Amino acid sequence: MKYAYCGKSGLQLPRISLGLWHNFGFINDYEIAKEMILHAFEMGVTHFDLANNYGPPPGSAESNFGKILRENLASHRDEMIISSKAGHLMWDGPYGDGASRKYLMASISQSLKRTGLEYFDIFYTHRYDPNTPIEETMQALVDIVRQGKALYIGISKYPPLQARHAMNYLKERDVPCLIFQDKYSMFNRKPEEEILDITAGYGSGFIAFSPLAQGVLTDKYLHGIPAHSRAAEPAGFLREDQVTDILVEKVKKLHILAGLRGQTMAGMALAWVLRDERVTSLIVGARNTRQLDDNLKALQNLTFTQEELEQIDDILDGATL
Ligand SMILES: NC(=O)c1ccc[n+]([C@@H]2O[C@H](COP(=O)([O-])OP(=O)(O)OC[C@H]3O[C@@H](n4cnc5c(N)ncnc54)[C@H](OP(=O)(O)O)[C@@H]3O)[C@@H](O)[C@H]2O)c1
Repeated sequence: MKYAYCGKSGLQLPRISLGLWHNFGFINDYEIAKEMILHAFEMGVTHFDLANNYGPPPGSAESNFGKILRENLASHRDEMIISSKAGHLMWDGPYGDGASRKYLMASISQSLKRTGLEYFDIFYTHRYDPNTPIEETMQALVDIVRQGKALYIGISKYPPLQARHAMNYLKERDVPCLIFQDKYSMFNRKPEEEILDITAGYGSGFIAFSPLAQGVLTDKYLHGIPAHSRAAEPAGFLREDQVTDILVEKVKKLHILAGLRGQTMAGMALAWVLRDERVTSLIVGARNTRQLDDNLKALQNLTFTQEELEQIDDILDGATL
């Protein structure tokens, strides 16, 4: 595994982290989930990314992760970076969604209980909430750190203006924003417009989520939609109609290029995300250890020639998902 310092902090993250959004809930096979976590850790993946609502049902990924940790990795807690978040709908009524102090404080207590952890390494506001003043959200995060419930703070999916505002607030209170989490892949290059510069400017790290565009940037959909895929399964967040012919044609061309680099499609897509030094890490998803191993091989070739980058730009031609 390769590790990188997270912005200007003293914390190193693995360049490839594992996310538990899909495939780790009560609806999934517990033994496969356990095998993936244990294998990932063995391979040097020290960072596991959770959120209160991951499952389904919501909360169950945290419960499963806590059980796996307790029963198999308890003596390794200090070798791991475990994150969680609150921001999307979690429970009924006005206090189970958004970014109010009430929601964040209640949610982190629940997440700690579900996982059985004493603290999270990183706790995030999962999304910008236009109905809550940024100061309220950020002060809640500062207090979460001061109360010892999290070691570091992160923010996710904030628009550039609000990200600056949030980072200023945190910096002035000596609880700098450790990390910014945003969607970034060949099919979503928005962070290149402003966010990567903002995070670097504040000394914050950056971690990319859905770096494979939920599986579309792999060889998975080259010949249609397989039954065991996120696009085909009802609990999957990817809809079948999002896997368009136009995108698949592009992936076919990228796939040839990946072969010339000695990589699989997934390997090249992940290496491409990591080519930028401002990107501390990426969070990949996986349904089994075979996918995970394929993804970890990305680290064997992270360098692109100028010609390769131009070819990739030409193929992508602004395509988004
Ligand atoms: N902050 C946020 O709002 C936010 C939002 C989304 C995600 N996240 C974080 O980012 C993590 C990753 O997101 P993601 O799961 O969308 O990431 P992703 O890596 O883009 O997609 C993962 C999916 O791609 C397929 N896949 C992975 N490796 C493959 C391989 N080698 N060959 C073929 N198919 C492969 C699998 O889907 P199949 O099931 O089809 O096999 C897998 O579940 C999440 O778990 C979560 O921690 C955060």
